Amino acid sequence: MPDDSFVVTPYEVKGAIDYDRLRELFGTQSVDDPLKERLRELAGGELPPLLRRGVYYSHRDLGVLLEQYVRGQRFFLYSGRGPSGPMHTAHLLAFDLCRWFQERFRVPMYIQITDDEKFWLRPGTTREETRSWGLENLLDILAVGFDPARTRVYFDTRSIGTMYPVAVDVAKRIPYSTVKAVFGFKPATNIGLVFYTALQTVPAFYPSYRAGRPVPCLIPCGIDQDPHFRVTRDIAESLGYPKPSLLHSQIVPGLLGGKMSSGGNEKDNALFLNDPPKEIDRKVRNAFTGGRATVEEQRRLGATPEVCSVWALWRTKFARDDTEFERVTSDCRSGAMLCGECKGKLLERVHPFLEEHAKRREAARPYAESLIVGDTPGPAPDLPEP
Ligand code: TRP
Repeated sequence: MPDDSFVVTPYEVKGAIDYDRLRELFGTQSVDDPLKERLRELAGGELPPLLRRGVYYSHRDLGVLLEQYVRGQRFFLYSGRGPSGPMHTAHLLAFDLCRWFQERFRVPMYIQITDDEKFWLRPGTTREETRSWGLENLLDILAVGFDPARTRVYFDTRSIGTMYPVAVDVAKRIPYSTVKAVFGFKPATNIGLVFYTALQTVPAFYPSYRAGRPVPCLIPCGIDQDPHFRVTRDIAESLGYPKPSLLHSQIVPGLLGGKMSSGGNEKDNALFLNDPPKEIDRKVRNAFTGGRATVEEQRRLGATPEVCSVWALWRTKFARDDTEFERVTSDCRSGAMLCGECKGKLLERVHPFLEEHAKRREAARPYAESLIVGDTPGPAPDLPEP
């Protein structure tokens, strides 16, 4: 019997996730070697670390999108962020991958900022808070390095005039029983959240709506977001839009390991992009690892990278190249490197990254506003030619 005690939905992630089983439960496809090979070929001979290391491990119709691309149909990218507070390094994964696709395939990128969603979701949060976090988070996202000429932002409470006609069409196709089953809504759930999935669908359809012809869409996202896009894909064809393709990542484990539930402080569970250097040091030093109880045991038996939150940081963001990543992994497993040393080496990567990031986010400030889609759509951003 598979252990299905974990939970993964857009509104709740808990338990020890069995990723292969999750793919089975969600009915998605695995990112296998032939698909990776095809993508590598089309991208000019290289794959990003997130795909090489299996962080992005599941998909829907990525192969279909690539074959359409080969036949001359350009696609666009779409991903998003619910602005409930400051962003941490793991929040950048989907955007790192999008940036790679944008660079390699020179395609448009659409970013959705769902300040409405987080306002509806978090009882103690004001609309002003989610809106101003939305702008702050947008700077962090743009700091990843999108080409401003090919990037636009749907900022829900600011872009709604443009989004609303498509949201209206979408909402009409989604019965309440569907969202209740998919998201586990309760009688007390506010109707904002009940409607919200329609808004998360809009960016997937909007370019096709605007162009009056099908424009393929690729959505890199955490696998927890898949339930939204199952709904999107189910209704797409009835509205005359293509089903978006998806590329799903695993969820990066928190720094506290399983300890969050036993009273850990949420702020200590991740490296926030605006943490002062001393905080970063402290959090990494206290992070949950796959190490042994004693030095002697660890030298003798080695440690377990797969359960380690520090290894997850190397894997998803901070290893400079495959050589470094493989060395860290094997020195951990063999016991040649102890956790303290590994943490020190990681910090040597994290600090310069955060300094650079802070500069790049300030460089984005002058133009960030200009990328936000207003109440009238304005010229379509670099849409694929018919
Ligand atoms: N619902 C997402 C969140 O809570 C935000 C989001 C909106 C998103 N559109 C998306 C995430 C598209 C991935 C892809 O963070």
